[in-house]
Amino acid sequence: MILKAIVAYAENKVIGKNNDLIWHLPNDLKHFKKHTAGKTIIMGRKTWDSLGGRPLPNRRHIVITRSKDFHAQGAEVTHSLEDAIQLAHHENEVYIVGGAQIYSLSMPLIDVLEITEVHAAFDGDAYFPAFNAADFDLISKQFHPKDESHQFSFTFKTLVRKV
Ligand SMILES: NC(=O)c1ccc[n+]([C@@H]2O[C@H](COP(=O)([O-])OP(=O)(O)OC[C@H]3O[C@@H](n4cnc5c(N)ncnc54)[C@H](OP(=O)(O)O)[C@@H]3O)[C@@H](O)[C@H]2O)c1
Repeated sequence: MILKAIVAYAENKVIGKNNDLIWHLPNDLKHFKKHTAGKTIIMGRKTWDSLGGRPLPNRRHIVITRSKDFHAQGAEVTHSLEDAIQLAHHENEVYIVGGAQIYSLSMPLIDVLEITEVHAAFDGDAYFPAFNAADFDLISKQFHPKDESHQFSFTFKTLVRKV
């Protein structure tokens, strides 16, 4: 199984504020959908809450929480990252979709990073963890300029862990 993380972060590594996303970039949402459609996505309980208590269509959701009486309709609930990965171990490709705590926990295990770098800095309260870029090869990079439906420019990057 290949473990991927998909994230959109700002120049200062901010990913969210008040348990929500900060920017609205429709082509980044399409990019997220293109990657994760039909796949399993693993997330922290707060990111699950940020979805409004509903699963995204056409994806298997696994939510990680310490709470033993947490139920999430339309998602499977686990109590550790290891259990979440174990639940999905038969699958070819699994996505870690955040938030900050779950990216941080999973970073040592990530094979591929699908990053959207938003070219602006934001005030926030959730950050993508530091990682060593030298551990990864940059295999693709695609710039998207600012336009009438995208207030900020951004770049999609795919990083693959060196073997
Ligand atoms: N820009 C992006 O790409 C992106 C993607 C996803 C999320 N976000 C943003 O990130 C923010 C949320 O991130 P966050 O770090 O606050 O929350 P999170 O990682 O989504 O969830 C944290 C929760 O996960 C559970 N958890 C964490 N470590 C655990 C462990 N070792 N064992 C068992 N359960 C564990 C706990 O749930 P319990 O409290 O229930 O025990 C904890 O409160 C929001 O602003 C969201 O919008 C941004």
